[in-house]
Amino acid sequence: MSHYSISINGVVRQVEAAPETPLLWVLRDALELPGTKYGCGVGSCGACTVQLNGVPTRSCMTPVSTVGRKQVLTIEGLSPQGDHPLQMAWQELDVPQCGYCQSGQIMTAAALLKENPNPTDADIDSAMAGNLCRCATYLRIRAGIHRAAEIAGQKKGTV
Ligand code: FES
Ligand code: FES
Repeated sequence: MSHYSISINGVVRQVEAAPETPLLWVLRDALELPGTKYGCGVGSCGACTVQLNGVPTRSCMTPVSTVGRKQVLTIEGLSPQGDHPLQMAWQELDVPQCGYCQSGQIMTAAALLKENPNPTDADIDSAMAGNLCRCATYLRIRAGIHRAAEIAGQKKGTV
């Protein structure tokens, strides 16, 4: 076991774990942040996506020893009030079906919108291609991202 200080959702957390432990299990089991999901465990589905320094990253493939000083953002930290434009759009359009893949979808989409506030369908499809949904909510995810872009634009307009 080794000791790690990791910045998660803006707070430095202390963790004891074997160096090879995937960040996914540190989040879920040690830090009780269950919003990040285990899907395949081999980097193929995107259910475990979090952001590391703003980059969508598969936490199932990220040994805790490699996180270092990077800022980890999980779905729990995306917006303290749950009112990130994507979360608002997801509710408005009823995007999820079973919901299992959706935190990973949102964390990938949030990184996309930060980089590209008005993505085209093609931009969305390319950014989201690695996030699988067994319920096939892909069209609603795409619509949700467009709606979130609108909401974010309106929010900016009101400031
Ligand atoms: S659980 Fe990490 S990519 Fe599937
Ligand atoms: S909503 Fe069920 S897996 Fe995506």
